[in-house]
Amino acid sequence: MTMEKMKLTIMEAAKSAGAVIQSYFQGVFTIRSKDGINNLVTEVDNHSEKIIIDIIKRDYPAHSIISEEVGELMQDSEYQWIIDPIDGTVNFAHGIPICCVSIGLRHNGKMIMGVVYNPMMNEFFFAERGKGATLNGLPIRVSDKKDFKTACLVTGFPYKWPETKEHPIKVFERMIMQGLPVRRLGSAAIDLCWVACGRFDGFWEYNLNSWDVAAGYLIVREAGGRISNFDGTDTTVFEKETLATNGYIHEEMLGVINKEITEN
Ligand code: IPD
Ligand code: CA
Ligand code: CA
Repeated sequence: MTMEKMKLTIMEAAKSAGAVIQSYFQGVFTIRSKDGINNLVTEVDNHSEKIIIDIIKRDYPAHSIISEEVGELMQDSEYQWIIDPIDGTVNFAHGIPICCVSIGLRHNGKMIMGVVYNPMMNEFFFAERGKGATLNGLPIRVSDKKDFKTACLVTGFPYKWPETKEHPIKVFERMIMQGLPVRRLGSAAIDLCWVACGRFDGFWEYNLNSWDVAAGYLIVREAGGRISNFDGTDTTVFEKETLATNGYIHEEMLGVINKEITEN
């Protein structure tokens, strides 16, 4: 099973789903709420998901799949595809062009390939383990910003407040109190990719799911960035806390998250 063949599959799946998302963008589609009033799913999420799963099953019928809307299609396989058919559905539903398809591939517990494709902005992020990360085919790297005081950050908030050690708003407040610009784009996969290509210096969020982060996790690492839990230890795509940075500002961000730095 060559990596080249899997690369063709992941690219075809992302591009096909992206074309469908783009064709509906700012058009007419049904929207419903899954859990709570603002956790939305549109008919386009389901359409995109079907296209991706059909392509993966056509090429790799014995592989496992985890996908946001259909759940787990587990098999006895070393390979696991982790899919978010639209990350940033609220943006998509409101005609905001910050949303994407995210597909990650794991082998024996390690992320080996990831794609995040935003067709509205024509941005196709890709990474393969050990081979670096690219944006539209060109290599990308995290920023080289070392001075935390001038860092540009991004975060996100869950639709339902989870059980967390600390209320996410408190951490947001502490970051803002440092005088830092903190953005909130509404797509965790894009947040991670924008750290990977150096637009942001750091990203943190509580309570993300594997499909939000799988592809972006590898893209950040392959672009030279660091990802951890909020205690600074290595994270897997199945853990709830995500801190992704250029590496240089990681410890300072951990300090603010964990209240070691409270004032400017
Ligand atoms: C959401 C986005 C958002 C994050 C939410 C996610 P969805 O995913 O990634 O940025 O803050 O926690 O659920 O629902 O658009 O796939
Ligand atoms: Ca998502
Ligand atoms: Ca989604």
